[in-house]
Amino acid sequence: MLDLAFRNVEILDGTGAVAFRGDVGIQDGRIAAVVEEGALGAAHTEIDGDGACLAPGFIDTHAHDDGAFLRHPDMGFKLAQGVTSVVSGNCGFSAAPADPSVNATSASGGILAGLTGDFTDLAGYFDLVLAGKPAINNMMLVGHNTIRTLTMGMDKREPTAAELATMRGHVELAMEQGACGFSSGLIYRPGRYSLTAEVAEIAAAVAPFDGLYATHMRNEGDRLLEAVDESLSIAQDAGVHLHISHHKSAGKPNWGKVGESLAKVDAALQAGQRVTLDVYPYTAGSGRMIEYFNLDRINTAFAEVVRIAGCPAFREFEGKMVTEIAVERGISIDDVVRLILTAEKGERTICIHFIIDEADIETNLAHVDMMVGSDGIPDLRGRPHPRLFGTFPRVLSRYVRERGVLSLPEAVRRMTSLSARTFGLTERGEVREGWYADLVLFEPSTITDEASYDDPKREPTGVRAVVVNGQLALHEGQHRGVGSGAMLRYRQGMHGTR
Ligand code: ZN
Ligand code: CU
Repeated sequence: MLDLAFRNVEILDGTGAVAFRGDVGIQDGRIAAVVEEGALGAAHTEIDGDGACLAPGFIDTHAHDDGAFLRHPDMGFKLAQGVTSVVSGNCGFSAAPADPSVNATSASGGILAGLTGDFTDLAGYFDLVLAGKPAINNMMLVGHNTIRTLTMGMDKREPTAAELATMRGHVELAMEQGACGFSSGLIYRPGRYSLTAEVAEIAAAVAPFDGLYATHMRNEGDRLLEAVDESLSIAQDAGVHLHISHHKSAGKPNWGKVGESLAKVDAALQAGQRVTLDVYPYTAGSGRMIEYFNLDRINTAFAEVVRIAGCPAFREFEGKMVTEIAVERGISIDDVVRLILTAEKGERTICIHFIIDEADIETNLAHVDMMVGSDGIPDLRGRPHPRLFGTFPRVLSRYVRERGVLSLPEAVRRMTSLSARTFGLTERGEVREGWYADLVLFEPSTITDEASYDDPKREPTGVRAVVVNGQLALHEGQHRGVGSGAMLRYRQGMHGTR
């Protein structure tokens, strides 16, 4: 007898093929049968889909959930979207490697949300996360900012040969333990202090594993195109696959440049280089506020598009634009920025900045190698960017159903099989007999992201069921707490014995 059966569903298999009506049976964590309607045997648990879509569970290719797996193992904000796997360790910040004697927040850039634990390497991190029974699966990158901070602190200089060897050693160990690649965040400290050659030499350490180089590029605004050139050359020199994170052109004078940037990517693809990208479906970015301002020379024009998300120093500012706070307090915009960032814990402020053109999102989503990545920062206090709770349903509602930028099967392919293949999630990303049963049942005509900037922690509607490794993890709005997530190893299944 099967463990679980979905009957009467439109199966979107994740390959981009059109949906077909059928039944899907699950046993021992795997998809046991994908058959014509009515041809499936009995199961312990039966779900009648009433014609809803059954797809592979969505894969969030750009996550910062390293700390969330320890702090919020239920991962409700992802599970509710139909996300069954994430790729963490992005933007150069990763849980591992770590030195437990050093404050983790400094090496994690503060965006990994409450990262604590007694581990030093990826295997130790995986063990600790698994002990907490995570709801979803996690694939990890190893971050440049993290290994650089561990090796040479916040030093603004080139590494010595010995330091470079140490950093490469951290990357090699993480790759041996199952990481899928190396990430950089070259706008952040200390990544921004590094020259192109340093990044290429470290990225080369993933080449023997055929891993990826994923990057938050050095510039996403005035110098976007130069930054794309740098990323392509780093990956070329290192001999690795390039993945460009959260592709955008930031700031009004740069809007439209994503077209030129994608043309560079297309030229590289034509020349035989391996390149992929991801995007989030919102016109605002989000990150640690302190990374975007130089207090000696405040960029007032930028401050005008900033909204405060989380602010331990001034909880009353959360949800407000900097311009509103300036009016309320009767002080200048620059003084608001200074007030926040110089306060105690001011450096922990997370902001949202409206810097992206709607048309650029559509240009991005129209590209065949564009995946979906939330870039959600899992700090649940305050008012986080709505992408944390809404990214995947928003692509399906706004860009598929309303705007018709891409078809439903194609959107699902970019959220599943393309992501699984690129990031090495073995036997996931397709509804296929014998593969892991990571699945989402959703209503394509009603699925909607409910999270907004004013009310960002609302779960989406239209996601009816989510299965992780064969276990029914969410059903008709109920998180079932089964904790069936796995820690994934690049192209090699999973960490541990489950
Ligand atoms: Zn980033
Ligand atoms: Cu990021």
